[in-house]
Amino acid sequence: MKETRNLIDIMDLSVEEIDELLDTASDIIADPDKYAECCKRKKLATLFFEPSTRTRLSFEAAMYELGGNVIGFSESNSSSAAKGESVADTVRTVGCYADIIAMRHPKEGAPLVATRTAGVPVINAGDGGHNHPTQTLADLLTIRREKGRLTDLTVGLCGDLKFGRTVHSLISAMSRYSGIRFVLISPEELRLPEYVVNGVIEKKGIPYTETTDLEGAIPGLDILYMTRVQRERFFNEQDYLRLKDSYILTPEKLVNARADLSVMHPLPRVNEISVAVDDDSRACYFKQVLNGKYIRMALILKLLGVRV
Ligand code: NCD
Repeated sequence: MKETRNLIDIMDLSVEEIDELLDTASDIIADPDKYAECCKRKKLATLFFEPSTRTRLSFEAAMYELGGNVIGFSESNSSSAAKGESVADTVRTVGCYADIIAMRHPKEGAPLVATRTAGVPVINAGDGGHNHPTQTLADLLTIRREKGRLTDLTVGLCGDLKFGRTVHSLISAMSRYSGIRFVLISPEELRLPEYVVNGVIEKKGIPYTETTDLEGAIPGLDILYMTRVQRERFFNEQDYLRLKDSYILTPEKLVNARADLSVMHPLPRVNEISVAVDDDSRACYFKQVLNGKYIRMALILKLLGVRV
């Protein structure tokens, strides 16, 4: 029997597989019609136990653009989870109806648990403050399209590095390319967790600095990846209110930035990038949104084993 492939952690994919996915996404962008019927009669289930706009809708748009169909729910209280059903049972049920599952859950590890009973490929669409591998694929596609490479880059990550799952997955992914340097910009309380600093960055011997000073860091960066302070992960609303506006990127702060800086953000943004930055040619966050749909199309094809 063929082994079911899942995407739970970005490290589930080799660098070669990531390159292939990026190539497929680029081919889809060049010739979308070629892919329009590839997933005819296939169903994607989107099981979202946590709020989402881009991730869920881009998965659904991706499946429709491949000629497939979509079922699912976008709130845990509209599924039997509200009656106390376990993730394992919910997913075992959905695996009877769908060919592939994209799942977001507030508990770290829930999508991994789902792989044990689903019987079909499971994609982690974000698990708590842990990982978000498909956002990382969208980020990598954006970086490759903007910079023409994934190597030799100084990447600044700013904001909530503690709870920001997109940051954790992006660091794991970028750590496999040569010539990468990280600048970690956050308040003291929201520093990158030890398990990422020690287990990924230091383990790979990647140069990095930690700072609280966004303006001071900006001139040295090729990429500035801004993030939202993750309100839903705080135990205490007072702490969130104190930290939420730690960093606000404005056009003035970009005065000394490189002409070819790429400003990225997984979105949604709250206050951390002023809307005045949107008109700057270096703002890439809405390009990330579009790239997210194309890379998810490529991923669905790969996990379903569809050859085009
Ligand atoms: C991110 C997430 O859900 O982790 N959003 C997304 O999927 N594009 C970032 C966030 O919510 O801040």
